Amino acid sequence: MTNSIDNDRVVIFDTTLRDGEQSPGATMTHEEKLEIAELLDDMGVDIIEAGFPIASEGDFRAVAEIAKRSKDAVICGLARAQLPDIDRCWEAVKNAAQPRIHTFIGTSPLHRAIPNLNQDEMAERIHQTVTHARNLCDNVQWSPMDATRTEWDYLARVVEIAIKAGATTINIPDTVGYTAPVESADLIRRLIAEVPGAEDVVFATHCHNDLGMATANSLAAVAGGARQIECTINGLGERAGNTALEEVVMALKVRGDIMPWHTRVDSTKIMHISRRVATVSGFAVQFNKAIVGKNAFAHESGIHQDGMLKNAETFEIMRPEDVGLTESNLVMGKHSGRAALRDKLNQLGFEVGDNQLKDIFVRFKELADRKKEVYDEDIVALMRLGEDPENDRLQIVSMKVVCGTGGPAEATVEMEIDGKDVSATAQGDGPVDATFKAVRELHPNTANLQLYQVHAVTEGTDAQATVSVRLEEDGMIATGQSANTDTVVASAKAYVNALNRLLVRREKTGPGSDAREISYKDVS
Ligand code: KIV
Ligand code: ZN
Repeated sequence: MTNSIDNDRVVIFDTTLRDGEQSPGATMTHEEKLEIAELLDDMGVDIIEAGFPIASEGDFRAVAEIAKRSKDAVICGLARAQLPDIDRCWEAVKNAAQPRIHTFIGTSPLHRAIPNLNQDEMAERIHQTVTHARNLCDNVQWSPMDATRTEWDYLARVVEIAIKAGATTINIPDTVGYTAPVESADLIRRLIAEVPGAEDVVFATHCHNDLGMATANSLAAVAGGARQIECTINGLGERAGNTALEEVVMALKVRGDIMPWHTRVDSTKIMHISRRVATVSGFAVQFNKAIVGKNAFAHESGIHQDGMLKNAETFEIMRPEDVGLTESNLVMGKHSGRAALRDKLNQLGFEVGDNQLKDIFVRFKELADRKKEVYDEDIVALMRLGEDPENDRLQIVSMKVVCGTGGPAEATVEMEIDGKDVSATAQGDGPVDATFKAVRELHPNTANLQLYQVHAVTEGTDAQATVSVRLEEDGMIATGQSANTDTVVASAKAYVNALNRLLVRREKTGPGSDAREISYKDVS
């Protein structure tokens, strides 16, 4: 690929499974990573950065499996500027139909100081590692980390070295979200104009959102000549996150008049993948988030509603269906059959096998018994936050909670722990606190509660609540989730779900572990 080929197209490089997944607390299971990769491939993402293979056995296995299962997307793995990292990365991606090695090193003065390399030593390292990667794989991406804070002369020098050593894509990361649109465009424009060989490679932009400018900076870089945008679903990523895929894709679609570049992404698949990523990462999408927030297409105020009824274009620059948002329909009641449920699930983007349909149908009936009106969102929540896995070591059997103004809340919780029935009663500051304390009596642990979040799935006091609980213990982080019309039950199940995930993670330390041994920030 060169800058001159299909100059109107912007390649979408998704790093939800690498830069997104490494944000504290967003860890996904192996199966969840495979599912998200398949959704990305199906929606037309060009390149999937599937992980950082040297970081752990779990990362390696996930990248290798995603590579094997890939269809149209290029599968990329990340590697530091070290030969063993690059070899491990190649091992993981080599079975993809289209593999890519992405290697990087921090080039700004602050980053050069960490491995304690002077400019010449680092230049030599770049030459050696990019050459090594290119000897393994035809498709090599190189990134000077913290490019936007690297001295111009040095940046131009190392970009030229990487191109000469065989890099096919040069990615310019704004690692700390420091740049601004004018500067972002100028930097790419100048690199393309001044670095020898620039016309033979694709320039990419990789922006972080610390100043809220990641999307604007990415689009400005495209105006400057970049033809690959690196992004994540929901803008997932460390600190303020990365450029959001849905924002750049929709901006290019809606404003083709002033940004005449297209992507291959099927935008009608955006909502579904956004919800899946929010669920599996435990990072709920803020209500007013562009494109995928709950309120992004809601028109509350009288004047807006009046305008919308007369002509939707008065306040809408894109249609909800363009991003895969179907109208919130009353689905079915308790008399609806299995075929109707399968139909509805298909409409909502879920393909289910017969056994899965059987399970979900039972839960749908239970919900329809409890809740008069079942909406699309309820069905999505049922799918996302399925049954507690039967093989979980900790299971809630029953619970009773007393709360109100008369004194402290009290919760009695009965659990099955490793096959044994146990129960405990505890008092607390409110029903959720009392319930968590009762669970802790039954399963003593030192996990710190990092996040407790409740969302109503639909309107109304009988709405299901989805609850996310994030726990941290000895550096390991796990997120648990659940949905129920009873907020306290959903909270207890989400807490127990997180505890089960911590147990699995602890059991898996050692070979085969998902726990990261190193981070991509260990740059030496
Ligand atoms: O933000 C960054 O610099 C990165 C690099 C590893 C490309 O994620
Ligand atoms: Zn990054």
